[in-house]
Amino acid sequence: MARDVLRVGFLCCLALVLIARPGSAAQGFKAKFKVFGNLPSRLQSSNPVGNQECCVRHRKLVSVGYDISGKEMVVDVGHCSRKCATSSREVGSKTDDFEPPARPLSALDRIRLQMRQRVSGGTGASGSSHPDVEDAVGCQGNGLCEPTRTRVQQLQLMDGPVDVEVIEDCHCAPRPPSCERSPRRKVYFADTPFEAEVDIGVCRGRCSEERHSGCKAVKNGTVTITGPNGKGNQCIDVVKECACAGECYRSSQREVYYEVFFNETAQEFQEREKEIDVGRCLGSCTEGHHRCVMRSEDDPSVCLMSLFRPKGRCAATRFTEHRFISREQKLQSILAIDDCGCK
Ligand SMILES: *[C@@H]1O[C@H](CO)[C@@H](O)[C@H](O)[C@H]1NC(C)=O
Ligand SMILES: *[C@@H]1O[C@H](CO)[C@@H](O)[C@H](O)[C@H]1NC(C)=O
Repeated sequence: MARDVLRVGFLCCLALVLIARPGSAAQGFKAKFKVFGNLPSRLQSSNPVGNQECCVRHRKLVSVGYDISGKEMVVDVGHCSRKCATSSREVGSKTDDFEPPARPLSALDRIRLQMRQRVSGGTGASGSSHPDVEDAVGCQGNGLCEPTRTRVQQLQLMDGPVDVEVIEDCHCAPRPPSCERSPRRKVYFADTPFEAEVDIGVCRGRCSEERHSGCKAVKNGTVTITGPNGKGNQCIDVVKECACAGECYRSSQREVYYEVFFNETAQEFQEREKEIDVGRCLGSCTEGHHRCVMRSEDDPSVCLMSLFRPKGRCAATRFTEHRFISREQKLQSILAIDDCGCK
């Protein structure tokens, strides 16, 4: 009994000595706050010299979580900015740049960091696309300051692997006169035998403001690449077509079926593939709208009473039925969306 008390007392003292050891706070910080270091040299500098057009990569530190040993992992994901910088100090002291503090992250630091991440559009982890294009004054002819190449870095975190997108460098690109697909290069498995560059595409350009809310990806596709875990086992989403679209819009979505048909020349039933663009409704309906329920008898254009629908659902407003004979010799009916709208 007395021995146990003694042992506990000894352990407490030992713990106190360990905590109070000089310099241990700084070490503790270093150990807790690990900046992901395995980046090529061109990523480490912010390239403050840049070009006269002033579109440069700036440091942007983002906390992505905890690695498997429990250390916080901070990655310099970079961002493209038109801000002109004359010295590296100037770049480093940019206000929207998260600098690692000289002490462990306090609760307040953490909140600040999270808010900055939210403002700049997500954590940068799990493939979330941050708005890395800034409106450019620094680029000639109203050009865009945008990433030249982005690498997808896979990191082992406590909760499993995450993909973090790291901008390697930036350049000025002409602003497309109208909505179109522009190339956007992303590198997977960089600096490994599996390095693969994929043009994932991006939608850019102007759209008329009254009817459209923006230049959007209306058709996507996938590209498969080979990684260390097998041939073609990694699927990557790519933008295939862009168009000006409203808040709620139709996107293309293809489905393929087997259709049985009677071949007149061969005088027999044969099978062929039937592709149907069944469509998909994307987007949201944030604006409420009024629906007139009572009109003036004198002037029907005057609405006397209307119901306000606060928020609609983006859903099919028109569709077409496709009928064909399936492989199982049954009449199959597929509905394809022609148009989407807020309901
Ligand atoms: C295509 O992918 C983008 C993100 O890369 C997404 O915003 C968009 O909604 C997708 N469009 C379709 C038609 O799936
Ligand atoms: C019908 O069958 C003939 C002979 O097998 C073939 O050459 C032809 O392509 C078929 N037609 C269609 C529309 O598949």
